[in-house]
Amino acid sequence: MQNFEELKQEALGAIRGAERMVDLRDAEVKYLGRSGKLTGILRGLKDLPEAERKVKGKEANTIRVILETEIAARTIALEKVEEDAKLSGKKIDITQPGIKHRRGGLHPLTKLRREAEQIFSSLGFEIVDGPEVEYEWYNFDALNIPVYHPARDMQDTFWIRADADPKKGRLLPRTHTSPVQIRFMEKHQPPFRIIVPGRVFRHEASDASHDIQFHQLEGLMIGRDISVAHFKHIIGSFFQKLFKREVVIRLRPSYFPFTEPSFEVDMSCLVCDGAGCSVCKQSGWLEMGGAGMVHPHVFKAAGLNPKEWQGFAFGFGIDRVAMMKYKIPDIRLFYSGDIRFLKQF
Ligand code: PHE
Repeated sequence: MQNFEELKQEALGAIRGAERMVDLRDAEVKYLGRSGKLTGILRGLKDLPEAERKVKGKEANTIRVILETEIAARTIALEKVEEDAKLSGKKIDITQPGIKHRRGGLHPLTKLRREAEQIFSSLGFEIVDGPEVEYEWYNFDALNIPVYHPARDMQDTFWIRADADPKKGRLLPRTHTSPVQIRFMEKHQPPFRIIVPGRVFRHEASDASHDIQFHQLEGLMIGRDISVAHFKHIIGSFFQKLFKREVVIRLRPSYFPFTEPSFEVDMSCLVCDGAGCSVCKQSGWLEMGGAGMVHPHVFKAAGLNPKEWQGFAFGFGIDRVAMMKYKIPDIRLFYSGDIRFLKQF
């Protein structure tokens, strides 16, 4: 049997020398565990003669208490060391440069649409929405474009369903936002002023300035005495606020079946201030969209009395306006999903 004093010193050495928690646990098992050295001695006592058993038993128990106390103390010390190590590992170095987070942005067309909505809201217009898939009645007939009318060819159409509705006709992806004029007038009594931003679709060959889908901004202002003068003022204010500079608006006679009289709306060229350049093809003017005074047939189709109400409607290509505002040379870039393009806005 090992000398008690020797065993005690050996065990204390192991406990005090433990640098990590696992080493301490190993020492505990080695001396005090089920088959540990001291446990073995205590078990062997029962074979000794009575007198000797009492003395050795006492001694062995004293050592057990000493070792347990020492282990408890060492446990506390090691826990603190490990806690400190963890904390110092988590230290934040406030002098380090930050980590830059990559942020998404708004699509240029979304930015422009929001800006336009804000400007028109400030001019008292309400923002209205309509379906992208439309009945023939709303897209054409109610806008004074019957089937046999040559004006149907002005807007090449994708047809979806031939037998959609006996009264409202075929289904199509709308070719313009004007059908929302009818939908709104059916349900609302004038006076009112609304804008309708939205996506439209045309069955056309695409090039730098045409795509099969694009966005329009429709406007409609109806009252008892709304005139072309109101239109010219509103539209001039809009472009002035959008481009943040003086602009001149010019109305040229044109034709749309749903307005009479009808106009093409030109704005003085932003690039050359009207002097003539390659962007405006030396004319000094940029074409922004169509407009006119709402045709009596349109009022009738929507259930309003043309003798009582009058007003203007307009439709602008949002993509066109965005191209001018951000100097973008090709409309197809908007729909390319190319991150190198989108990142610039
Ligand atoms: N809807 C016409 C187009 O898409 C534009 C327009 C709208 C013209 C309203 C006049 C009045 O070409």
